[in-house]
Amino acid sequence: MDIIGKLGGCGIVPVVVIEDSNTAVETARALYAGGIDVMEITLRTPAALASIEAICSAVPEMLTGAGTVLNCKQTQSAMDAGAKFIVSPGLDEKQAVFCAERGVPLVPGCVTPTEIMAALKLGLNILKFFPASVYGGLPAMKALSAPFSGVKFIPTGGITISNLIDYAQSPVVYAVGGSWLCTKDDIKNARFDKITALSKEAVKVWRSFDIRNGGK
Ligand code: 3PG
Repeated sequence: MDIIGKLGGCGIVPVVVIEDSNTAVETARALYAGGIDVMEITLRTPAALASIEAICSAVPEMLTGAGTVLNCKQTQSAMDAGAKFIVSPGLDEKQAVFCAERGVPLVPGCVTPTEIMAALKLGLNILKFFPASVYGGLPAMKALSAPFSGVKFIPTGGITISNLIDYAQSPVVYAVGGSWLCTKDDIKNARFDKITALSKEAVKVWRSFDIRNGGK
């Protein structure tokens, strides 16, 4: 399966923090019902690995990856739990080699020319741009793509339904990530219908304006 291709195909990668693994499967089903077939579970809670495992077994149609993966040890744990892709807030050479050797795609965070050059050297050209709103957002990504024309970004941090159109319309954006369609609070309070509704709304906006697929 072309996993990185699937991230781009969906266009929206929910960044999900799960505090109770018993809510994981319903969360994944709610996103899937809204048209989202990829998700990133962040390793920011003790429930993260059990959540990845539960979703991989109960909702195999959901492409599930791990986020906030900071080192090789966590990368191995995420892979053991079934994560199909790894997202890191930064670039770590050891982690990149570890993932490459195991054939698991890595999306590392890079926001400077030096970091991008290091990523390219490791064969990585789909990069997380985090936190996007702090590091200059779209103007920064556009400026960086002048010298690095082969690089595409997955911005996260500050993306919501209100600025999604701008990102969808930019060719330097490969996909976007964010927590707005699946918040900790909505998961905790079992607002799964709301998660589905927010997902549908986001997918509709993305598809209508997605420049990669002939959007406006
Ligand atoms: C991330 O981890 O990528 C971001 O925290 C997501 O940012 P958001 O909560 O602003 O969407």
